[in-house]
Amino acid sequence: AEQKPLSGQKWLITAGPTREAIDPVRYISNHSSGKMGFAIASAAQSLGAEVTIISGPVNLTTPQNCQKIAVTSAVEMHQQALAHAPKSDVFVACAAVADYRIDHIASEKIKKSQDTMQLNLIKNPDIVADVAALESKPFTVGFAAETQDVEHYAKGKLARKKLDMIAANNVAEIGQGFNSDDNALTVFTANDEKVLPLMSKSELAKQLVQHIHHTFQSTRLK
Ligand code: PMT
Repeated sequence: AEQKPLSGQKWLITAGPTREAIDPVRYISNHSSGKMGFAIASAAQSLGAEVTIISGPVNLTTPQNCQKIAVTSAVEMHQQALAHAPKSDVFVACAAVADYRIDHIASEKIKKSQDTMQLNLIKNPDIVADVAALESKPFTVGFAAETQDVEHYAKGKLARKKLDMIAANNVAEIGQGFNSDDNALTVFTANDEKVLPLMSKSELAKQLVQHIHHTFQSTRLK
């Protein structure tokens, strides 16, 4: 059989939103469609990788020959990511994980009463930071979704979460980011940056996967 560039590599990719339950019928979430993460999965699989996607609730067909693990909440995504990461070569955290969850999920539907109400939120575990802190850690790529000071915040996340690479997108721009078919990324490592201009998420994913692969290879040669 033909030897592809990512043959023999295991890639683990998180995608989509998480849902944080409020009560049996309500939740907090965000606008992630899963398109970007699934495009990365498809691109890596095409280049020969064995791909596992850990996905929040999305309406997408799983790319051919990729394994999908379906989760709902950030805590579930965290459990699955930490279970699979130690045996993975590359981890790409494309999911839009809720930073906070409801402190106490109501067991019955909350009734309408007062004019105002308060929900108490507590911080979720940071999945990509916990993967990057593993003793046998994969090459770890985060995303940064920002609406301002993109480079500044992305570089902060790269350093604070101890990532190998971060792909930053400006999600305030119309026609890219959450739920659109196109996106643009600026990809940072500790010592370089690469601009991937606006294009379809499928083409962007191919270029990102190539860039991850080349950077990962050069770190292994050192
Ligand atoms: O799904 P689409 O509709 O195609 O949209 C794509 C996208 C905009 C969601 C994607 O390109 C993107 O930016 N994904 C990351 C979204 C996000 O939550 O970014 P953040 O800057 O809040 O988080 C930074 C990094 O930490 C991300 O890699 C995120 O997955 C990770 N994280 C965040 C919180 C948490 N508790 N655990 C995490 O692992």
